[in-house]
Amino acid sequence: MDPRADTGRDLGTTLAPEVTLAYDFDTIIERHGTSSLKWDFEQKFAGASGLLPLWVADMDFRAPPEIVEAVRKRVDHGVFGYTLEPESWFEAAAAWLVRRHSWTVRREWMLASPGVIPSLAAAILALTDPGDGVIVQPPVYYPFALRITGNGRRVVENPLLLSGTRWDMDLDGLSLLIDERTRMLVLCNPHNPVGRVWEKTTLQRLAEICARRNIVIVSDEIHADLVMPGFTHVPIASVSEAAAAVSVTLMAPTKTFNLAGMGGAIVLTPDAGLRGRIEKVHRALFSGVANAAAVAAAEAAWRHGDRWLDELLLYVAENYRFLERSLGQALPAVKVFPLEGTYLPLLDMRALGLTDALLRERLLRAARVWLDEGAMFGRGGEGMQRVNIACPRGLLAQALEQIGGALAGQQTYCLGP
Ligand SMILES: Cc1ncc(COP(=O)(O)O)c(C=O)c1O
Repeated sequence: MDPRADTGRDLGTTLAPEVTLAYDFDTIIERHGTSSLKWDFEQKFAGASGLLPLWVADMDFRAPPEIVEAVRKRVDHGVFGYTLEPESWFEAAAAWLVRRHSWTVRREWMLASPGVIPSLAAAILALTDPGDGVIVQPPVYYPFALRITGNGRRVVENPLLLSGTRWDMDLDGLSLLIDERTRMLVLCNPHNPVGRVWEKTTLQRLAEICARRNIVIVSDEIHADLVMPGFTHVPIASVSEAAAAVSVTLMAPTKTFNLAGMGGAIVLTPDAGLRGRIEKVHRALFSGVANAAAVAAAEAAWRHGDRWLDELLLYVAENYRFLERSLGQALPAVKVFPLEGTYLPLLDMRALGLTDALLRERLLRAARVWLDEGAMFGRGGEGMQRVNIACPRGLLAQALEQIGGALAGQQTYCLGP
């Protein structure tokens, strides 16, 4: 594919003229043939071929050159024996958290982990018993429920409330559904797939309720760094003493810097009791050995990734504006929810009047674009689709043109608003 072939000015895909980026996010990089989940497994998972994949949450951008260089240096060494995270890795992570999130953490709060979801599973095993209730707030990242039920615990749903285009937590509802077998709440902040960056006051109220009712909060903050201009991520453990005492925070550089194929995460728990129990399960489940490339990549990311990330966020914000504008023209019945964080805006397609099965069929067979179905994220996601906009604008433009072409006629039949 010609990298910039589709990014002509007439498509309106160029960045606002006053913004010049030092890094290149426009070039379309061929990812077929790299065992990419997003690009190489369409027959297996979507049952179709020739799709533009805007589904799973990785980016079609190269990682920052400093990371590529650090990994290259490590690869060139050629010996890949057992590896551990050195102290400098933890120092780099702590410095990143202060710099990016104004959160001062202590070294002893941190545990290295193979990934956010493995550590969520470990926290469930460590801090709840079989049959206990674990709260999730759908629509939300579906692997939460899979880890809860897969480990013999019960999913307790506290669905988000939708008012207009704004999603909020139902904190009154939460208080009512907690019983003596409810032990944990899995928070998603920023919230995938609704794109909310939860405010400090909401987090304070949530922590107050959980502290009062003996509920541990496992806060998945893997999208913490991916916050749109004008919004600020607030780590839940930083909002109050009560929150610090009842929370386990999961973070990683993998989403931020497109390193998901390497793995690696950090678990942060100020409370020594919670930490000790999680550490014990980590020891029972994991070897403690790290991926050599991931260790090099993460430290380089935290030490040198600021400028690249700042530019990435500008590019994604512009992609979001482009998405809004394009869909507004081509499919005005489709509403784009506001994007405060993540690079995964949610589209409300209910007004098209299609069932989820038909919508999926049209997107895959007619538009030849692969999105993630909202219904997959649980209650409240029906009739919606999540779109991954962390890709070159030319690719996004192509996908939106195909979606517009395939669904435009639909609106004439729709009875919805
Ligand atoms: C909210 C959320 N948590 C966790 C993950 C995956 O984390 P990991 O690959 O470290 O297990 C994702 C990936 O999309 C995610 O969106």
